[in-house]
Amino acid sequence: MTSTTVQPIVHISGLSKHYDEGERSRLVLDNVSLDILPGEFFVLLGKSGSGKSTLLNLMSAIDRPDRGQIVIADTDLSHLDDRGQTLFRRDKIGIVFQFFNLIPTLTVLENITLPGELRGEKRADVERRGRALLERVGLAARSEAFPDRLSGGEQQRVAIARALANEPALVLADEPTGNLDEETGQNVLNLLLELTRDAGKTLIMATHNPEIIPYADRVCRIHDGKLVVTLHSDHVHSQMALSQA
Ligand SMILES: Nc1ncnc2c1ncn2[C@@H]1O[C@H](COP(=O)(O)OP(=O)(O)OP(=O)(O)O)[C@@H](O)[C@H]1O
Ligand SMILES: [Mg+2]
Repeated sequence: MTSTTVQPIVHISGLSKHYDEGERSRLVLDNVSLDILPGEFFVLLGKSGSGKSTLLNLMSAIDRPDRGQIVIADTDLSHLDDRGQTLFRRDKIGIVFQFFNLIPTLTVLENITLPGELRGEKRADVERRGRALLERVGLAARSEAFPDRLSGGEQQRVAIARALANEPALVLADEPTGNLDEETGQNVLNLLLELTRDAGKTLIMATHNPEIIPYADRVCRIHDGKLVVTLHSDHVHSQMALSQA
């Protein structure tokens, strides 16, 4: 049998990040290395303050590491200047936050079409795509509403549509159900899985919610600055073996 090489979509090596707290320095990520495969659903657990958001913010080029390398979809983040970081976020990844982060002065549809418009695409094209996405998240009828008129679950569905607007291969979600009641959270999670993982995209999610574990290909926990694997599906295991062969 010939071995196929699977290129990771996320390659992290020797990553460290500290924050200064007054006189003291706190090492949040301590020499972390990690490869994530295309199509993988990767879950990041860890208690509050363990560094989940820190790691996601480094992967999103929102923040910079002290040391180490992050390569995402062939882009080495350390080579990007501020403008390059902005373009990377706009074009290569989708981000879903705990508190939705929709722009309150824009309508639901405008929130979703903004990434495409910033890219300079034709208005008719981004609108068509935006309306199709709103259809997918069940909010076609609310396209002209402003975010504050929507429930938390509805706002998060808009945020998911926005994250997918530029068709990124990688979606990062930081506690996407953390601000929702259980049933709404489950619905949002199902939708997120359907629109990302089932569509062959890579999904990386930080969460406190252990109910997500059965859906994941791999679960890691951050503890004392280190990444500890707690679950590794057979599928990912064999693919990882191939990629390292
Ligand atoms: N900008 C910052 N300045 C100083 N310290 C920070 C900063 N951002 C994060 N920290 C610290 O780094 C540690 C990790 O924070 P982080 O937000 O990554 O944790 P988390 O795992 O996402 O927690 P939670 O589950 O509560 O969201 C915390 O101790 C936090 O106080
Ligand atoms: Mg966090």
